[in-house]
Amino acid sequence: MNGARKLFVNSYGCQMNVYDSRRMMDTLAPEGFVETGSADDAELIILNTCHIREKASEKVYSELGRLRLLKQAAEREGRNITIAVGGCVAQAEGREILRRAPMVDLVFGPQNYHRLPELLARAKRDGQAIDTDFPVEDKFDHLTAPSVAATRARGVTAFVTIQEGCDKFCTFCVVPYTRGAESSRPVMKIVAETERLADAGVREITLIGQNVNAYHGEGPDGRSWTLGQLLYRLADIPGIARLRYTTSHPRDVDDSLVATHRDLRSLMPYLHLPVQSGSDRVLAAMNRRHTRRDYLAAIERLRSAQPAIAFSSDFIVGFPGEGDDDFRDTMSLIEEAGFVSGFSFKYSPRPGTPAADMDEQVPEDIKSARLAELQALIERQHARFRRDCVGRTLDVLFEKPGRHPGQIAGRSPYLEPVQVSGPDTLIGEIVPVTITAAGPNSLFGTIARSNIAEDRMPLTQTAGA
Ligand code: 5AD
Ligand code: SF4
Repeated sequence: MNGARKLFVNSYGCQMNVYDSRRMMDTLAPEGFVETGSADDAELIILNTCHIREKASEKVYSELGRLRLLKQAAEREGRNITIAVGGCVAQAEGREILRRAPMVDLVFGPQNYHRLPELLARAKRDGQAIDTDFPVEDKFDHLTAPSVAATRARGVTAFVTIQEGCDKFCTFCVVPYTRGAESSRPVMKIVAETERLADAGVREITLIGQNVNAYHGEGPDGRSWTLGQLLYRLADIPGIARLRYTTSHPRDVDDSLVATHRDLRSLMPYLHLPVQSGSDRVLAAMNRRHTRRDYLAAIERLRSAQPAIAFSSDFIVGFPGEGDDDFRDTMSLIEEAGFVSGFSFKYSPRPGTPAADMDEQVPEDIKSARLAELQALIERQHARFRRDCVGRTLDVLFEKPGRHPGQIAGRSPYLEPVQVSGPDTLIGEIVPVTITAAGPNSLFGTIARSNIAEDRMPLTQTAGA
């Protein structure tokens, strides 16, 4: 009787929000909502917002300006559009959103989206609703699982949230305030979610959270398990061929995690380990609670466990008080650590965080110049890494048809997109590919059909070596 109700979720920010957006869709499916790719024909529009840097939250207000016009136009046609704002901006400034954008019907935080059906009913009844409390119940216990069909449609890779929140309180960061205290999901809940994904054809799982290596979820033995223990358990799930985890903190690289990189073939040799700065003075002011030396020691331990490992990182330039010498320390660390990729940002003061009130804020033009210099260095190292892949045989997980007919596209262990000529039937398979060329955005290669099964070349070895 009820025609499909269309739902558009616009996700900003990190993978955590991508995951949350999917779970919101799953939670609203039993209410008759189906996903649509554009706001124009949606009955319900959710903005899943990000608060990590200033620009991210400004985007939300400009998007709300556009949506106001859309809502007014729909109303003239006698159609009603419900607009909801979720995520970290909602958590941080919920009431402010309702004040600045009164056409918003509903505001909810990252810990409350399991209540969406009830909140929508409340907004309909009262005109507006807001829920940004940190609830006592665990939202994961109340979320609807996606159907097998929905999971299949999402492809052969998937995210699984294993922990949320953060207790580290880096002085620049809003996460401890918007996502709340660190909390880990129990091992068997994660196992069950991963098994369900594997049954629906997922081959690669990325464990996500703000600080995944602080994981300490309850194991089936009643004890608290580390991320290392969890990875060993997940590696046993049939069908799961690749595991990744992100994001990690350098302080929480413990021995059991290092051991997984030595022991688990399915754990990909590519790690995102944010360092933020290469200067001990700045690291201390950031309250990172590690030194440059500690960081380099952590990556050395990982490298000795898995020589093929490559690292990416996050960097902030222009943190309050960052002088030219400090910036040079960051540049030299990038070279010394040999990062193959990275995300870099100009420091952006976030209201309520200690660094926002520090003296010696760095002028915008200096931040811009440092950012450009740093990004050029990372890009050079990235290009060198891609060039070094040429001639190597790398395992590729094929994910989708390629750009041109007869091509398929997948990813290397290092997340580099790889294009080859091959049949669609290989989608979902992991196949050794000899890399023949490196373009600006993708690697190109040919399928190396020999010895697919057991005797795969170790990742460090180049073809023919
Ligand atoms: N300003 C600039 N960058 C920031 N990040 C977090 N907070 C800020 C901020 N206030 C960056 C860090 C972090 C990444 C997710 O975002 O590098 O690792
Ligand atoms: Fe933010 Fe990461 Fe620091 Fe936690 S560890 S406060 S999430 S930057």
